Amino acid sequence: MSELVRLTKQDDVAIITIDNPPVNALSPGVPEGIAEAIELVEKDNGVVAVVMIGAGRTFVAGADIKEFGKMTSGQSARVDGFKPILLRIEDCRKPVVMAIHGTAFGGGLELAMAGHYRVAVPGAQVGQPEVKLGIIPGAAGTQRLPRLVGVAQAIAMCAEGSPIKAEEAAATGIVDRIVQGDLLAGAIVFAKEVASNPVRKTRERTDRLGTPEENESIFAAARENARKRQRGLLAPLAAIDAVEVATKLPFEEGCLAENDLFTRCLFSDQSKALIHVFFGEREVSKIPDVPKETPVIPVNGAAVVGAGTMGGGIAMVFANAGIPVLLKDTDQAALNRGFASIQKNYANSVKRGRFTQQFVDERLKLIQPTLSYEDFTDTDIVIEAVFESMTLKKEVFAELDRVCKPSAILASNTSTLNIDEIAASTSRPQFVIGTHFFSPANVMRLLELVRGESTGKEVIATCMQLSRRIGKIGVLVGNCFGFAGNRMFQPYRREAQFLVEEGASVETVDRALYDFGMAMGPLATADLAGLDVGWRIRKEHPDLYKPGVRRPIVEDRLCELGRFGQKTGAGWYKYDENRRATPDPEVAELVRKWTAEAGITQRQLAPEEIVERCIYALVNEGARILEEGYALRAVDIDIIYLNGYGFPAYRGGPMWYADTVGLKKVYERVCELRQQHGVLWEPAPLLKRLSEEGKSFADFHRQQDASSA
Ligand code: 3HC
Ligand code: NAI
Repeated sequence: MSELVRLTKQDDVAIITIDNPPVNALSPGVPEGIAEAIELVEKDNGVVAVVMIGAGRTFVAGADIKEFGKMTSGQSARVDGFKPILLRIEDCRKPVVMAIHGTAFGGGLELAMAGHYRVAVPGAQVGQPEVKLGIIPGAAGTQRLPRLVGVAQAIAMCAEGSPIKAEEAAATGIVDRIVQGDLLAGAIVFAKEVASNPVRKTRERTDRLGTPEENESIFAAARENARKRQRGLLAPLAAIDAVEVATKLPFEEGCLAENDLFTRCLFSDQSKALIHVFFGEREVSKIPDVPKETPVIPVNGAAVVGAGTMGGGIAMVFANAGIPVLLKDTDQAALNRGFASIQKNYANSVKRGRFTQQFVDERLKLIQPTLSYEDFTDTDIVIEAVFESMTLKKEVFAELDRVCKPSAILASNTSTLNIDEIAASTSRPQFVIGTHFFSPANVMRLLELVRGESTGKEVIATCMQLSRRIGKIGVLVGNCFGFAGNRMFQPYRREAQFLVEEGASVETVDRALYDFGMAMGPLATADLAGLDVGWRIRKEHPDLYKPGVRRPIVEDRLCELGRFGQKTGAGWYKYDENRRATPDPEVAELVRKWTAEAGITQRQLAPEEIVERCIYALVNEGARILEEGYALRAVDIDIIYLNGYGFPAYRGGPMWYADTVGLKKVYERVCELRQQHGVLWEPAPLLKRLSEEGKSFADFHRQQDASSA
């Protein structure tokens, strides 16, 4: 028997334990071990029933995702090899009880559904999250699940990928009993109770599959919903198709159809990209010189300085994670404004059903407004979010250095300023770090952690761990202007503006990038963030522009007219009182006038050119950031763009996307753009080198690992 699966016995109940840490994935050896164990129990006359359980922290979290890459490259067998094993379990003449704790996800739930009964501890989760990897359930999940829970629930689980808790699973028919206390003991009791029952096979059930008349509207609504809410994704629609097949064809034929759909998804670029994202999200927490064992500073209390847009959101983030937080501003009026806006935000969340009133009341109690630094003496971490001014930030940090205990982490939410310069205003630069939240801070998942020259490893390890605790994905970046995300965003936005100046309408530019998959077009995004933000930065940093080099002309002039975007009801677009955008003919007219004055020739621009110029501008700057070491790996940049800038996950992030296009092709196009548009398109040396060597950005990451090993 495989080492990954153990067979033991308690009285006349066989116990099959899957033991493949950390999450009992169905790696090679596990399915074979299960099959062998089932054969043995079938033959053992001393066994009347079987319990299958996971060792460690969970039941089975699914197929081994690492294997998918091997399958698509032909190095490994296909996933449908697992289906016969599931049939074998279901055909076992002795009742098989699946005992679930932690998660039964993907192939894990498919395994559980092949058993005759399922018991679970409270809080365990079951789900078919495959769509998040760009695939669909591939081991009969789309065929067994609707037979257990009905069509609508199966569609929701397979097409949206969200898990459900054991309690809901019990209500819907997946779980037969919730076991309080010890799971194994409870499962054995249950197994003895059902030992003499005839086995019931999920695949033979049809009672919950509904009628064609009932199902028609369910499938139509599901498809419409998927097209709207999972825009651009192929797998949700494939999952719906597969569930529909379950309602129309016998089980065996349904499995064949599922397999076709699964294979098509697995070999798609979308699936490769989403699997890259799955591992990338975990990889970003791995920092070569800050090993897992690095001690962390306990964080039991936090403080935020500045109760404005960002400070208020950051205070909510801490409160939501159950961490008490002080919120400081300079005067009572500012504090009241900040607190009122927090209350309004929470009230909206209650209205939308995201939080209960009780949850909100408890969170609000965790936020303690204050006007005095003297309350900070026991705080473990302070996040400064005052106005973007170096002089002011230095004053605040000097004050924090004076009042905070020596082990307190002093973090700045600055979006552009030099962390080392801020740190130099304290006596403890090793405790200073940038924590760059994204707006709205209580919603956006990205947290750029900016490493200064002196930032200590413990501080980095603590902030990385804290990111997870507060529901963020922390990505470590270096201390350069704009850090990684905004530094790349600048050329992306620049190109969007140039395209408008060259003759594309505002809506055409936004539409092209929206159709590419971006959550919003670049000009609509600028209106949302406020055009004045960039305008102020440009005025403060005139050195950002080199003499003789083209710079966008329209946005500054829109700002001069008081058009700051959504907040003033007009920017690139005009807005109604509900902040709904409509194209503004006045802007089109102004652009025509200003570009004529500047002597810029107008022409037709195709969506392909719009996408290439904006996205390749991101990629080219990303390559520089990578080579200069301001991002650890290409995947770190991808994760930043997916979680902070609305880049479509199914394209894997800008660097992965460039790899998918092929760096040779990207490089050649950048060279063409260099010829047409000048020095701003100078190809990044790393892009040139990798393209010449026939390599990808992902290869650069591997080389780095090899050299640091
Ligand atoms: N395959 C391979 N590795 C996996 C894995 C899987 N299914 N699930 C998790 N891992 C790895 C992670 O990469 C991570 O590795 P690392 O420590 O080297 O970075 C480690 O296990 C621990 O994972 P997490 O850090 O994510 O641990 P958490 O406790 O935070 O979360 C979890 C656990 C909820 C199970 C989460 O890992 C998860 O959601 N995993 C993916 C589940 C999934 O998508 N299953 C479906 C797979 S596809 C499938 O089953 C197809 C089928 O239909 C045939
Ligand atoms: P804001 O103007 O909304 O809020 C700043 C707050 O700081 C105000 O309430 C002000 O009264 C308070 N303040 C000023 N001096 C203070 C002092 N000495 N002590 C205590 N409070 C003081 O500004 P916003 O937008 O929240 O930005 C804050 C910081 O976050 C800036 O560094 C900004 O660059 C950064 N940031 C902003 C983002 C955004 O989208 N707004 C995104 C990411 C970072």
